[in-house]
Amino acid sequence: MIPRPDLDYALESLESKLSIAVIHGASNLKGGSVIHRTYNPRSWKSYGSVARDLVGSLRRLGFTRVRRMREGMDLPQLLREAGIHMAWLNTGGIQGHGAMCHAAASLESLGIPYVGHRPTVAALLDDKPLFKQWLQGIGVPTAPFAVWHPSTAFSPSKRRLQELEELSGGPLVVKPASGRASQHVHWIRSADQAREAVRWVYGHTRDRVLIEPFLPGRELCITVAPPIQRLEHRFQMTSRPRFLAPIERLFDDEEKIFTSMDVQPIGIRRVQALTRPEHAVDLQWLESVGERIFNELQLSALIRLDVREDRQGHLMVLEANPKPDLAVCKANGEGSLIALGLKEQGESYDELIASLLAYRLALGFDFCLPSLAVIPDLLTDEGDHLGL
Ligand SMILES: Nc1ncnc2c1ncn2[C@@H]1O[C@H](COP(=O)(O)OP(=O)(O)O)[C@@H](O)[C@H]1O
Ligand SMILES: [Mg+2]
Repeated sequence: MIPRPDLDYALESLESKLSIAVIHGASNLKGGSVIHRTYNPRSWKSYGSVARDLVGSLRRLGFTRVRRMREGMDLPQLLREAGIHMAWLNTGGIQGHGAMCHAAASLESLGIPYVGHRPTVAALLDDKPLFKQWLQGIGVPTAPFAVWHPSTAFSPSKRRLQELEELSGGPLVVKPASGRASQHVHWIRSADQAREAVRWVYGHTRDRVLIEPFLPGRELCITVAPPIQRLEHRFQMTSRPRFLAPIERLFDDEEKIFTSMDVQPIGIRRVQALTRPEHAVDLQWLESVGERIFNELQLSALIRLDVREDRQGHLMVLEANPKPDLAVCKANGEGSLIALGLKEQGESYDELIASLLAYRLALGFDFCLPSLAVIPDLLTDEGDHLGL
């Protein structure tokens, strides 16, 4: 096992040496990104502007060899030519099934370490039916559901749809198995409308469609981060994962499904921080469920839990986002939930980015992951100091 060096020292020594690629998505319409264009079960987005925010942050932290790169079939060659040592994954993939995990899977096989979830975890988190089954397996509350795939014999019985209807008193939600930002999420009045809604979602995704009772209560979110924090300019491991930006999403009067951030950007008008004494019970619930998921999956990167209350006021996990938005706050008050929450907690965006990178390095040293073998080489000049 490689002894773990002092993380502050390691980061500082790597500033001018570590070559980092922040990877974002490429469109399958762009020449050279794929051999054959197929389709996207998950609503596609490039995440290029957030990749720019991440590059800016890493540069402010002192890293001089940082660049953005697009996912695509030429990525391995570009990584090699640019002498990239480490990647930061900020991509939802290009096309096809399980696209959220494609970049991580490629980097694993190429031997490039990365900040992000390992492929199996990314794929699980981004597949709502599978993740909900996993949640049920560990006893975390999530709404009952049915899965419908119109092009196979895989459809729920009328009885099952009625059961879901009875749980909500009528309305249901029909949504993609893999989605983002409320894209293609439908509220329907009753199971009678399910077939049409399922066909519509399937028409856009060509993948399984999820049907759940509509949960009419409050909607809460919390971000769960690796157990590391920079206190008084030193990294310290914490005993639990860290919890950032606990908020309630604020709905307009007739709004049933939280409006997509593609339509209405997230800003302080749309969220309320869970900071008042009466929020203590919600906070405790969010943190204990967040910690459970983080620990059971042995996560090494961020997730954001989306949670909503059912008719009886019980909190139910909707999903855990494997790549929560990390856009910085803009001057007009718009920004990601995480950046808005950090502001509220008095922590800087750059400190969070530094801690995510440091945690990945720390994991590498602790478990001597072969993919981080390159790091001690980079630190060779300072090897004596580090005892390597
Ligand atoms: N069962 C449900 N009951 C009530 N609202 C739901 C339900 N499922 C989804 N929603 C609404 O749709 C939004 C998006 O759903 P979610 O499951 O978080 O998928 P994604 O964010 O990936 O699109 C949620 O923020 C919530 O407002
Ligand atoms: Mg969501």
